[in-house]
Amino acid sequence: MMKYLLFLLFLLLKAGTATAQNNLVVNGIPWFDDKGNIVNAHGACIVEENGRYYLFGEWKSDKSNAFPGFSCYSSDDLVNWKFENIVLRVQPEGILGPNRVGERVKVMKCPKTGEYIMLMHADDMEYKDPYIGLATCKTIAGDYQLQGPLLYKGQPVKRWDMGTFQDTDGKGYLLIHHGPVYRLSDDYRSIEAEVAHIKGMGESPAMFKKNGVYFMLTSNLTSWEKNDNFYFTAPQIEGPWTKQGLFCPEGKLTYNSQSTFVFPLKCGNDTIPMFMGDRWSYPHQAS
Ligand code: GAL
Repeated sequence: MMKYLLFLLFLLLKAGTATAQNNLVVNGIPWFDDKGNIVNAHGACIVEENGRYYLFGEWKSDKSNAFPGFSCYSSDDLVNWKFENIVLRVQPEGILGPNRVGERVKVMKCPKTGEYIMLMHADDMEYKDPYIGLATCKTIAGDYQLQGPLLYKGQPVKRWDMGTFQDTDGKGYLLIHHGPVYRLSDDYRSIEAEVAHIKGMGESPAMFKKNGVYFMLTSNLTSWEKNDNFYFTAPQIEGPWTKQGLFCPEGKLTYNSQSTFVFPLKCGNDTIPMFMGDRWSYPHQAS
C-alpha cells in the first residue's frame, strides 16, 4: 500500500512539474525546444505573424565567438518553442564569412513590400571592422539571403551594437549604440535619414512606445559583463530625448542581463512592452 501511495505521489509531482514547465517562462535558465535542445537565440528579437511568435537570435557556440548562423524558433504561447531553421548561415566570404562575428539579429516585415528584412551587426573577430548587414527573405523562417552592408548615402554604416524599432505607422528604424537613430527607406533596404542622435546613450539599444511616449533602453559599455542599464524617453522619435535613469533597481545589474529588444505583446486592446535581455556566459555562450 505504502509503495502504491509513493508511486502515486511521484506521478502527481511529475504531472505538476510538467504542467509548470509548459505554462511558465522561467527567466535566466536554459529553455528547451521541441527537440529537447537548448533554445539558442541570443541578442534576440520576436516577430509576431498570424498569431504565432518567431524568435530570432545568435546561434551561439561554446567553442568560439565566430558567427555560427542565426536561429529561428516559433511558438504560439511564448513558452513552448519549436526549432524552425538556421535562417542565415555562415557565408562563403564577406562580412559574415568564416571567422567573422555576427550579432544582435533583428527582423521586421516591411509593410510596403511584404518582404522580411533582417539587420545585424557583422564584424571581424577583434571587433575592428564593424558593419550593419542586410539580409532578406520572402518567408519569415528563411532561408535569408545576405545582401551585404546596409547603406546610408551610398556608404556602409561602420558601427556595432544595433537594434530596430517598427513604429505603429509602419516606419522602420535602425538604432545604433551611442546615439544615432536612423529611419529606413520605404522598402527597409537602406537608410533614408538620421532622425535623432541621443546624447549619453550606451550600447545594446532597444526601443518601444507606450501611451504615446517613446522609450529607449541602453547598457553601459562593459563588453560581456552585466551592468545597470538605463533609459531615455521622448514625446516623438525625433526627440527631445531625456535621460531618465535606471529601469531596474540600482546594483541589480539589470537582473544580470543586457537589453536587446522590447517585444510589444498584444493583450486585448492593450500592448505590454516585454523586456528581452541576454545573460552572457562568454566563452560558453551556447550552454
Ligand atoms: C557587448 C555587446 C555585445 C558584444 C560584446 C562583445 O558590449 O553588447 O553584443 O558585441 O560587447 O564584447
